[in-house]
Amino acid sequence: MHHVTVDRQLSAVAVAVIGAGAMGSGIAQIASQAGHEVYLVDALEGAAAAAQDRLASLLVGLEAKGRITAAQAQAASARVHIASSTADLPECGLVIEAIREDLGDKRALFAALARMQPAGTLLASNTSSLDITKLTQGLPHPERVLGLHFFNPPPLMRLVEVIHGHQTSDESVTAAMELMRAWGKTPVRCTSTPGFIVNRVARPFYGEAQRMVEAGVADAATIDLVIREVGGFRMGPMELTDLIGQDVNLAVGTSVWEQTGRDERYAPTDLQRQLVADGRLGRKTGRGVFRYDDAGAPLDASPDRTLTAALANGPIVTNPLGRTLAMLVNEAVDLVARGEASAGDVDTAMKLGTNYPKGPIAWGAEIGFDVIAAQLRQLDTAFPGGRYRPSPALDAQVGS
Ligand code: NAI
Repeated sequence: MHHVTVDRQLSAVAVAVIGAGAMGSGIAQIASQAGHEVYLVDALEGAAAAAQDRLASLLVGLEAKGRITAAQAQAASARVHIASSTADLPECGLVIEAIREDLGDKRALFAALARMQPAGTLLASNTSSLDITKLTQGLPHPERVLGLHFFNPPPLMRLVEVIHGHQTSDESVTAAMELMRAWGKTPVRCTSTPGFIVNRVARPFYGEAQRMVEAGVADAATIDLVIREVGGFRMGPMELTDLIGQDVNLAVGTSVWEQTGRDERYAPTDLQRQLVADGRLGRKTGRGVFRYDDAGAPLDASPDRTLTAALANGPIVTNPLGRTLAMLVNEAVDLVARGEASAGDVDTAMKLGTNYPKGPIAWGAEIGFDVIAAQLRQLDTAFPGGRYRPSPALDAQVGS
């Protein structure tokens, strides 16, 4: 099969967005504000039209706040069109799908798009967990299929993970990266590794805290306080998972764990499984780790302040921040060493995607990779089984 050249000048192409839900409508907004004609498709009757209406009033809202002019709001609204199905789409330079997270559905969609759109049309998936290589299998011209992983809400979150599967061409990735920059985004590049950058490197942020609560090192609110006050994180892992939804967070973690052949490093905790089984999903159900009032304020998060200093200065096994950082750095260094993303992109992704105060690679360099390696060895001795095995790349960093 010959290799088709993707049009590198994507700046003026028509863009189709399939799936007009939370992510799709946000992506459509970005594309229309960037000057593209946008075509929305949704399988649910009326959903694309509803998204078009929401978008129009959102743009009027931005105009009222003085963020854009009336002319800009009108022009962006006028650029958003509805197509009744993928068969109804005009020729587009880029199609982004944000339909529900189901491999079969997404593969069927890509097969239809590949038949109907020109061979040079870039086909992108906003999947948060599926393997781009699997999505691509059997498609004609798989070199133009890639992941464009936006974060929620897309218009506000600058980060976009640009994911290349085994067959994606460099040319497609480069064209997509350029377009994302033109849209005011900060793209990072990653192979189609489980969880990509953000959802993979962030796993221990939740997992270590949960394990420490399970072991009775401290209560959840105290662990959160150490992470916030000593680490400088905006939120602690316990309150953050309550905000994300324990079910959503568990699903992401389980997906990474399954896709890595159940690597202990990503094993979900009994604590989180139990929360989900009990319907304690977080703020959205009024109760997760903590209880919440109607306004979403925690009712029973009362940290033990005398304990925080002792934990933060104590041994690594009971040190919430030390343990968490050691695992974050290990994960980040490992990802880079496997050639899945660059160190700069990993740090950028974690700062923009999860709001970490520092990138884990830069943080590791500051703490000392030798210190991190020694801490992990202590943890590995205390908790054997492979979860805390230091990445061989840590020692290489020490030597470099
Ligand atoms: P959503 O449920 O808000 O929207 C999905 C939309 O797709 C619905 O309007 C549905 O009617 C439509 N749809 C479903 N199957 C379809 C099909 N075969 N053809 C056309 N339309 C179809 O979902 P959401 O949250 O927008 O997620 C969409 C995708 O984005 C998923 O793959 C998800 O994993 C991914 N994602 C979600 C994030 C989030 O925070 N919600 C963040 C990053 C990625």
